[in-house]
Amino acid sequence: MNYQMKDKVALIIGGGGGSGRISAQMFAQEGCKVVVADISEEEAKKTADLIVADGGVAVYIKCDVTKEEDIEATVNLAETTYGKLNFALNIVGTNTDFTELANVPSKNFDVMFNVNTRSTFLGMKYEIAAMQKAGGGSIVNMASAGGLVGQYKQGLYNPTKFAVVGMTKAAALDYAKDNIRVNCICPGPMLSAGMQAALNKDPHFGDQYLTGIPLNRFIGQEEVASAFLYLCSEKAAAITGVALPIDGGMVAD
Ligand SMILES: NC(=O)c1ccc[n+]([C@@H]2O[C@H](COP(=O)([O-])OP(=O)(O)OC[C@H]3O[C@@H](n4cnc5c(N)ncnc54)[C@H](O)[C@@H]3O)[C@@H](O)[C@H]2O)c1
Repeated sequence: MNYQMKDKVALIIGGGGGSGRISAQMFAQEGCKVVVADISEEEAKKTADLIVADGGVAVYIKCDVTKEEDIEATVNLAETTYGKLNFALNIVGTNTDFTELANVPSKNFDVMFNVNTRSTFLGMKYEIAAMQKAGGGSIVNMASAGGLVGQYKQGLYNPTKFAVVGMTKAAALDYAKDNIRVNCICPGPMLSAGMQAALNKDPHFGDQYLTGIPLNRFIGQEEVASAFLYLCSEKAAAITGVALPIDGGMVAD
């Protein structure tokens, strides 16, 4: 697919692994100059190295999304290195607990909202300022199918992702006037490297995760990356404020 992104600048926060790394590589293949940010400097460098080895352009930075100064420095790096910011993906998220709400240790509330929700707020805050200077842009946040429907034993994860969906929609309204589009994607269970390794050992390992998924399969990380790319592209120029399920039909029920 030719998305005509030559000389655009893309920031991938959480680009050191999984769907973030694949997204960084896809944006580079479409002609973007890429800034790869991750708490793991080593993995961020690896992504940037892969892009450069493939003939692309990329820099990397260590960024802990729980630290506002790291996010500010990351957005600054895009502007100082490449002169502007056009696209940004806010991908980082975690899940501390798979248990009923009353069993969740109270300290995990702050951990979950810091990593999943406050990070998205901070990312957008600095990205929007940069995109206003650039005359517009596109932000895509990583929410989850669990940001659209409640799930068993996800009493903390669900609200952190519902909040990401809400922030996405509010920001889409506020910044349409600046030609900045803001969307989020809502994947069902993704086929991470860890999940793939477990499935290789035991093909039935993932059955529990597929209950309630009409297509009865995991979501590929490259399928998620393709959605990031599409939503940033001009082909999605009329789309803003959307929470796009990529979930095998999970939330259709
Ligand atoms: N795995 C799933 O099935 C699934 C489904 C829907 C949504 N999601 C969301 O997708 C995103 C990625 O999930 P994943 O399971 O692929 O994650 P992951 O564990 O592979 O992490 C992605 C990247 O984030 C980085 N990271 C972790 N903490 C960080 C921090 N504080 N600051 C900066 N970088 C940090 C990691 O180093 C890694 O490179 C999350 O937001 C998650 O909620 C996952």
